[in-house]
Amino acid sequence: MYRARITAVAHYVPDRIVTNSDLEKTLDTSDEWIRTRTGIRERRIVRKGQATSDLAAEAASRLLEQRGIDAEEIDCIIVATVTPDMLFPSTACVLQHKIGASYAWGFDLSGACSGFVYALATGSQFVHSGAYKKVLVVGADVMSSILDPADRNTMVLFGDGAGAVLLEPTSPGHEGIVDFILKSDGGGGKHLHMPGGGSLHPPSHDTVNRKMHYVHQDGRAVFKYAVQGMADVSVELLRRNGLNTSDLAYYVPHQANLRIIDAAVERLGIQQELVCRNIERFANTTAATIPIGLSEAFRERRIRRGDLVLIASFGAGFTWGSLLIRWAMSAR
Ligand code: ACO
Repeated sequence: MYRARITAVAHYVPDRIVTNSDLEKTLDTSDEWIRTRTGIRERRIVRKGQATSDLAAEAASRLLEQRGIDAEEIDCIIVATVTPDMLFPSTACVLQHKIGASYAWGFDLSGACSGFVYALATGSQFVHSGAYKKVLVVGADVMSSILDPADRNTMVLFGDGAGAVLLEPTSPGHEGIVDFILKSDGGGGKHLHMPGGGSLHPPSHDTVNRKMHYVHQDGRAVFKYAVQGMADVSVELLRRNGLNTSDLAYYVPHQANLRIIDAAVERLGIQQELVCRNIERFANTTAATIPIGLSEAFRERRIRRGDLVLIASFGAGFTWGSLLIRWAMSAR
């Protein structure tokens, strides 16, 4: 039996910045509304032709450089995304080819905003069992590819980006992934979904005319479940490990809305300065949000070797979960 530890973490966001003022030009919205209701000031958006695998490949290349290994050493690639380059082949296969990870196999994992937490838990089990020694876990989304440019309800909320971690074995008792709790409630699907393009509603003129290939969200319903879901699962995970929030060095909640983060943090009672908040600059990047938060926190030396770090997510499905990490990487 091994424990999985994170041995490298990196992220990539497109260099094109779209501010709230930019959105004011095409939508009936305002910088003031977006800032006060969501905490978002700007987001990164891809240039035409840039796909999820391109962002993932940038993040993965940075990660490999940081770890100082060749892509051929990777055994397995898991890409969490709801915006794959295409339905198949998987974005994991596209990524494998782009970075030259010739000996890796891989697959995509669809968990919306919880995709990365699901993927990290899944990847850790391959290491835990001894099956694989180097598992690349990526969270990447080009949300701008599935947003209705005319819908102010969704268009202002999301951004594009990618983040990645490398999982490798360590001995039990050492730093690594400590524990996780993952949850789903398919009954929440109606509140947040992209109905078109799958086997239920294959693409047609009708599905396009009815805007079924875009994100549809009942924001108020999701808000309520998100606050409760993220806070409750975090408390449950800490409790079952005999810990409380004062043991935490850093908390990375999913970044969907600053008010959701604040409400969850209040329920948990974590010190404000120990909470990741990057929604202002990136908006909601879905599966990329948490690895971007971890990557920035490590780079800024907010998390150091031995620190206890908690991540938590909530997203479409509904899906939610939390994962506890005893951080294994020393500051560089
Ligand atoms: N600009 C101006 N006005 C707007 C905008 C906008 N961009 N968007 C909505 N409004 C209007 C609405 O039409 C509404 O007007 P009305 O009162 O005349 O009907 C008013 O603002 C208030 O709308 P609410 O929906 O009540 O606004 P709320 O305070 O709930 O904020 C928001 C909306 C930001 C969407 C919030 O509900 C939220 O963050 N929800 C959760 C999102 C989330 O967590 N998603 C999960 C992750 S995503 C994933 O998994 C892919």
